[in-house]
Amino acid sequence: MMETKQKKETRRINIGIIGCGHISQNHIFSLTLVEANARKIWKWKESEIKIRPHLYAYADILEDAVKNMAKSFPIDKQFVGKNAGFELIEDPDVHAVFILTPTYLHKEFVLAALNQGKHVFCEKPLCFPPSEIDAIIKARDSNHVVFQPGLVMRSTSPIHYLQLLTEQNKVKWGKPMNIVFRDSQQKPYLGELEVHNSTWRKDQTQAYSGILFEHVIHDIDGMISIFGEVEEVYAKINYFAGHPGIEDSVASIITFKNGINLSISAMWNDLDYDCRYYEIYFEKARITIISDGRSKKLAEIKLLYLDEAEIELDLEKMDEYFFSKIGLPHVKAEVSGPYYAEDLRFINAIVKNNIKSEITAESAKYAHEIIEACYESGRKGVPIKIQPFLN
Ligand SMILES: NC(=O)c1ccc[n+]([C@@H]2O[C@H](COP(=O)([O-])OP(=O)(O)OC[C@H]3O[C@@H](n4cnc5c(N)ncnc54)[C@H](O)[C@@H]3O)[C@@H](O)[C@H]2O)c1
Repeated sequence: MMETKQKKETRRINIGIIGCGHISQNHIFSLTLVEANARKIWKWKESEIKIRPHLYAYADILEDAVKNMAKSFPIDKQFVGKNAGFELIEDPDVHAVFILTPTYLHKEFVLAALNQGKHVFCEKPLCFPPSEIDAIIKARDSNHVVFQPGLVMRSTSPIHYLQLLTEQNKVKWGKPMNIVFRDSQQKPYLGELEVHNSTWRKDQTQAYSGILFEHVIHDIDGMISIFGEVEEVYAKINYFAGHPGIEDSVASIITFKNGINLSISAMWNDLDYDCRYYEIYFEKARITIISDGRSKKLAEIKLLYLDEAEIELDLEKMDEYFFSKIGLPHVKAEVSGPYYAEDLRFINAIVKNNIKSEITAESAKYAHEIIEACYESGRKGVPIKIQPFLN
């Protein structure tokens, strides 16, 4: 007798994007790759259900933003105008929502989407003050849907690989001692003159604050993921460009509970330049990371050990380690940069019904609290103790 092939059930995850601007290009491109690779990622041949994420809808207040995006990355549905984001959230065929609007709109969209039972990815920063993130956590838990904040350093393979190297070489390298971090970025609010191609980041009512929440949050969060909890912070904050509340110069010392001091020197200026630079010193070794925002290569990472010749670490090896660590050893990076992995992890959290996701709202709240403590330190001129991380 001939065996009849059973048709497999398909689980479609329709994704809606709110805000078709600068960062949406990274997410939309990454999501098309996740969609194209779904067969391999979720092993359709072996599994009982075919997981099928699908880029489904765009919403933006501006018609051109939606239309232009749809020309490059076609879509089933488009929502335009003042209510576009809420209309997308209310669409019963949308299962997951990416919130990629200017910062001041995040919280309202996040809560509306979670309360409609949608899974939500929201770009950083989330909302202010950090205690407001509790409302997001509550809505995530009561609606039992996934929420993932856009803390992208947690999806960069070098961060995970450095965590491994630090652990593996505890005896050989000695204790981690000092971290020097310098972040120089061209003012991201110069409109067409600069890659962000927008101006809202100089307006406190839309951005809330400047370089710390807008850029350095990633670095603070990344270092926390390697070196653990923070004991106290001390910061000097300046507003050279004169936009109220938008700090463009920060010198800060973040002291971790294990004694490591991270010194941060961060600024927005007029140089046509966007580069993060780290030196991580151990007693017998040094790791240098150069991440040039305008380069196709994610980062150049070098290791110096005692008097040995400095060597460059292999990014491909780091990617292999990272995808194994997150339980997807059969997945390739596909594209340089962390957004593919970040978006894939969000969809995978939906598949696994892991509502906290591997990148939690709780850890985002902790990073927000540390930055708020930097502002407090700047205002008062004293170091500020950090409350323990409550998971
Ligand atoms: N993780 C990262 O690496 C990273 C990088 C850049 C930006 N971001 C964050 O992403 C968010 C968006 O930044 P961006 O640079 O893409 O901004 P952007 O201005 O380029 O894009 C925002 C889009 O949202 C649209 N929009 C504005 N109001 C809206 C509304 N009420 N309803 C629907 N759409 C609306 C705008 O028209 C625009 O198209 C910010 O919170 C920013 O901090 C994160």
